Amino acid sequence: MTNNKKIAMVSGVTGQDGGYLAKFLLQKNYRVLGLYRRGATDTFSKLREHGILEQIELLDFDLLEFSNICRLLKNHQPDEFYNLAAQSFVAASWEEPIYTAQADGIGALYILEAIREFSPKTKFYQASTSEMFGKVQEIPQTETTPFYPRSPYGVSKLMAHWMCINYSESFNIFACSGILFNHESPMRGKEFVTRKITCHLADLFTGKTTEPLELGNLNAKRDWGFAGDYVEMMWKMLQHSEPDTYVVATGKTHSIREFVEEAGRHCGYDLHWEGSDENEKGIDKKTGKVIVKVNPKFYRPAEVEILIGSPEKAKRVLGWEPKTDFKTLCQMMILADIERAK
Ligand code: GDD
Repeated sequence: MTNNKKIAMVSGVTGQDGGYLAKFLLQKNYRVLGLYRRGATDTFSKLREHGILEQIELLDFDLLEFSNICRLLKNHQPDEFYNLAAQSFVAASWEEPIYTAQADGIGALYILEAIREFSPKTKFYQASTSEMFGKVQEIPQTETTPFYPRSPYGVSKLMAHWMCINYSESFNIFACSGILFNHESPMRGKEFVTRKITCHLADLFTGKTTEPLELGNLNAKRDWGFAGDYVEMMWKMLQHSEPDTYVVATGKTHSIREFVEEAGRHCGYDLHWEGSDENEKGIDKKTGKVIVKVNPKFYRPAEVEILIGSPEKAKRVLGWEPKTDFKTLCQMMILADIERAK
């Protein structure tokens, strides 16, 4: 019975996490209202690939349009609101700092205000990020690690994170913040480093290109998990008795270089590295072919050198654990891109 179904609103439904979360919620028998920004590129391709496009009710949404957000909350009174919409590319946030602050900081506040005013029973999930730890103050990072964001993106997300806590404490709104570490999948956008790597290696492997892959800082380390595992935590947070903040991570970290090596193995490459800094190259031992080279164009004005999160609280309080390890994730992504390239 449609009427008895819980209603979940998912902003950013056309993105990587939006697709996995919508699929998860449909399996839990939710009515999913998918909020998307008109004019976004390759709008519905991920939802189509998940096979769920027809089951989602799509609604126009814009993080910068307060009147639109108020109307949505007033008209639909959702049980749960998952805010996955954002300007999510860290590198772009130095080029578009004001837009990023408006979308990622003020946008979340607009939703909280609309909930406060028109739908106070709506439980709210905010997509917070390990970028808030930036220049990390301790290893591993936990829910109590002090923040030190290193980009306009990280600073903007930190505002939204604190607004969640503040609205929860001030107005008794059930607002949770999930501090998600990097999470990837075959649905990842191609601007992010993992998918950039797997797409390019797949093109090299299938002969669609002969050009080496150009990357920035190979030494940065990330705690990479699988997006499909992480969306379950978003839902679990909203089912708990109290709103709270949780780190969602694997507890393991790997460099960009290691990701290239691991993905490369599935294409038959055995990489060794020559040179240093911007002259460094990743060369296939068997053929002597240059597979990777550094292009300083991809360096960031301020880098987050290492991220590694502790999923201990997620396990202890909500019984959640990541299921997919680094090697499995790399394999899943490279095999999917080889298949697509063919
Ligand atoms: N994108 C990109 N492209 N990154 C590169 C490249 C390149 O050519 N070469 C090296 N890197 C390095 C970046 O400097 C960074 O240290 C690391 O690869 C990861 O970059 P991204 O994959 O773009 O992700 P991110 O860590 O900046 O941000 C992602 O994770 C956050 C959670 O920590 C995004 O998904 C954010 O939205 C998310 O909040």
